[in-house]
Formats: sequence, structure tokens, C-alpha cells
Amino acid sequence: MIIAVDGPTASGKGTISKQLAKHFALPFLDTGLLYRAVGWTVREQGGDADNPADALVACRFDSALLDNPDLRSEVVGGLASRVSVHPEVRMALDKRQKDFANQPGGAVLDGRDIGTVITPNADVKLFVTASPEARAVRRFEEMKRRGEPVNFDDILADILRRDERDTNRATAPLKPAKDADLLDTTDLTIDAAIQQAIALVNAKTSGRRDKDPA
Ligand code: DC
Repeated sequence: MIIAVDGPTASGKGTISKQLAKHFALPFLDTGLLYRAVGWTVREQGGDADNPADALVACRFDSALLDNPDLRSEVVGGLASRVSVHPEVRMALDKRQKDFANQPGGAVLDGRDIGTVITPNADVKLFVTASPEARAVRRFEEMKRRGEPVNFDDILADILRRDERDTNRATAPLKPAKDADLLDTTDLTIDAAIQQAIALVNAKTSGRRDKDPA
């Protein structure tokens, strides 16, 4: 079974995807981490994230980099959003994601274009979203817990900027696949959101089984 989870930053899609993978005993790929590795490498190489040639060179990062906790920072998230605009970069990361999705037994992947581009034939597609304000509150609390300096207005502005870039880029923009189930987590606790996601997967897959000829 392939489960594709897409959605904007801080929507809860990462946590939900990890829990879905655990619940259904499937391997999990956080595809945002690949774009973050490219953004991090561009900076390391002194390149410009907005320059497609610099970003393409950075796609040859060492896989060990994916374990670097610095990839999770807000700054690297912004760089990832900038490099992800370039079609060359998306193409360079395409096979790795498709191979992961199509491994025997299936997988859970989360990102921005999983249900639309990477696995258009996924068994289940979820589009996880929440209001920008709710997402900014979550990001604020998370950064405060990590002891990072925080300013709510800056965080909200950064989220809106990232939404704008990820949604309006020409190649593989963030948008729900036509056959995706929407999960709005604005007023949900994370546990409730996970339970709803599991219920959506079960509903979708039992519907398929019902339709199968005996
Ligand atoms: O999910 P994330 O915040 O780690 O993603 C960081 C950036 O990477 C995001 O702003 C856009 C880009 N991205 C993408 O374009 N396509 C994906 N499948 C995953 C991430």
C-alpha cells in the first residue's frame, strides 16, 4: 500500500505520516528532507539557492547528511523552499522518491507533490492542512521548546512566504491531488489528527476491497 501525504509547512503532515507508517508497518520517507539537504549543501558550497545551476550541483549531497539535525532548522527550510522551485532539482530527486514509493509492500511519503507527481497511483492520498495562524502557533511553541529565539509575527510571515512560493511555483506546486482526502488539523489535537488519518486510510482501503470482484 502506498500512502501519499501532502500539505503545507507545520500542518502536522510529518507527525501524521510517521504515525501512519508505524500503524500500517510501512517504511517512511520525509521528502522535504531531500530538498533541505540540497538547500543546506548550496549554502555550504557558497552557492545561490535561487540559481538553478548552483542548486543542481548541490543535489549530489552525501546521504549521511540526511541525519544532520541542522537540516530541520527554519533557515534551511527556507533554502529548501527556494531550491525546490527549480525543475532541474525536482528532476534530480525524482527517481529516489519514486523508487522508495514503489518498493515491494509499499511506503508512506510526505511532501508537497507526492499525490500529484511522485505517486499519482497511490492507494491513499491525504492533503493535510491548517490555518496559517494555527501553524504559526505550533511552530512558535516548537521553537520555544528548543530554546530558539522566537517572534510570532516573523514566524507567521515566514509561513505565508513559504506557502506562497510552494503553491505558486510553475513546476509541481503544492496542491491537493483531485482524489485526495482533505484533513484540516486547525482545531484538532495531534492525537485526534492521527486517529482521523488512520480512519481515512482504513475507509479508503476497505472501500477498495468492497469494490474488488469476488
Ligand atoms: O516539508 P518541509 O518543510 O521539510 O519542506 C521544505 C521545503 O521543501 C518546502 O518548503 C518545499 C520543498 N519541498 C518540495 O518542494 N517538495 C516536496 N515533496 C517536499 C518539500
